[in-house]
Amino acid sequence: MSYNRIAVYGHRGWASSAIFNALVASGAPIKLIHRPGSDVSSVPSSVSMVELDIEKQQQELIAALQDIDIVISLVGLEGILKQHAFVKAIPSTNVKLFVPSDLGVRADDEQGLRVPMKKTKDEVEEAAKKADISTTMVQVGCFAESAFSIGILGIDYPGNRMVFTGDSANQFVNICTRDYVAAAYASIFASTPPAKLAGRVIGISELKATGSEIAAALKKKYGAEPQIFRHSLEKVNDEVETCIKNGIPLSLAWWVRKMWGSGTLVGLVGNEVWEVEGYKKVSLEELLVGGKLAPYRNMPPQIVQAFNDTIQ
Ligand SMILES: NC(=O)c1ccc[n+]([C@@H]2O[C@H](COP(=O)([O-])OP(=O)(O)OC[C@H]3O[C@@H](n4cnc5c(N)ncnc54)[C@H](OP(=O)(O)O)[C@@H]3O)[C@@H](O)[C@H]2O)c1
Repeated sequence: MSYNRIAVYGHRGWASSAIFNALVASGAPIKLIHRPGSDVSSVPSSVSMVELDIEKQQQELIAALQDIDIVISLVGLEGILKQHAFVKAIPSTNVKLFVPSDLGVRADDEQGLRVPMKKTKDEVEEAAKKADISTTMVQVGCFAESAFSIGILGIDYPGNRMVFTGDSANQFVNICTRDYVAAAYASIFASTPPAKLAGRVIGISELKATGSEIAAALKKKYGAEPQIFRHSLEKVNDEVETCIKNGIPLSLAWWVRKMWGSGTLVGLVGNEVWEVEGYKKVSLEELLVGGKLAPYRNMPPQIVQAFNDTIQ
């Protein structure tokens, strides 16, 4: 088997650390590009490391990418914006494929493209296209660990409560555990020739469930019907607009719920779903009833409260 030479940026986050570890374990040669001050104490010795401020050290970034086939960015938060530095550098290298940090769903509506996180990610993808850089976008829908524990989708698993938005009771949502996403990244990128991945939007899907199926799993878990709230599509549409207008960081959550309630969310991972050979996928029942749901990262109490307040 011939491995791709992969550079990773953003190795230490909640999702990204698992993906990074799976890429390292795949056997592909990995180069970690990390910002100054980033904790690299747990990076295995097989990984080569380059410390760089990618925005201020363009020439060093170009030099670091000379022996790389695929750049996989897994940054979060303000790091998303910094990916424009890769767009500037890659044309001066031999990199064959750029995989920007996305790990969500594609926004193909005007409003979704105004949601700040989606807008920033979309601008990176567009800039890469303009620079003639081959990209692969990976879409996972919602991570199980965040979807069920912090109320992004209007589901309060610990509190046995949930919101049905529009027709979400009957519409599917695409869910992946972090472990599955990590296995999928290794399966997709370790040895597939970059030319076969270029220009593709690859979906990852571990399970799909409707709102009613999730409510039934909650009932089975707790032996009591979950408390159900109902939000109209008009209400969530107004919430998206209010959040965008006022810079409230809940716009993504309200927009995702709107997409779910209108039946479009499940399709936003695209038509090309990558299956991880030999992987035993988890079921909704195993996650919610059988105790297989792993915890999400620790969230600041005010964020937890803000999500809680949307479930009423
Ligand atoms: N669909 C979903 O449900 C879902 C859920 C969670 C995450 N995601 C997506 O998954 C991707 C990775 O998320 P994550 O939660 O693993 O990310 P994260 O925890 O926020 O951070 C990942 C990495 O980003 C780096 N980073 C953060 N701010 C930076 C900055 N200003 N400059 C440079 N680097 C910076 C960190 O570097 P250091 O090591 O130097 O600190 C870290 O290694 C993101 O695109 C995120 O939106 C999607």
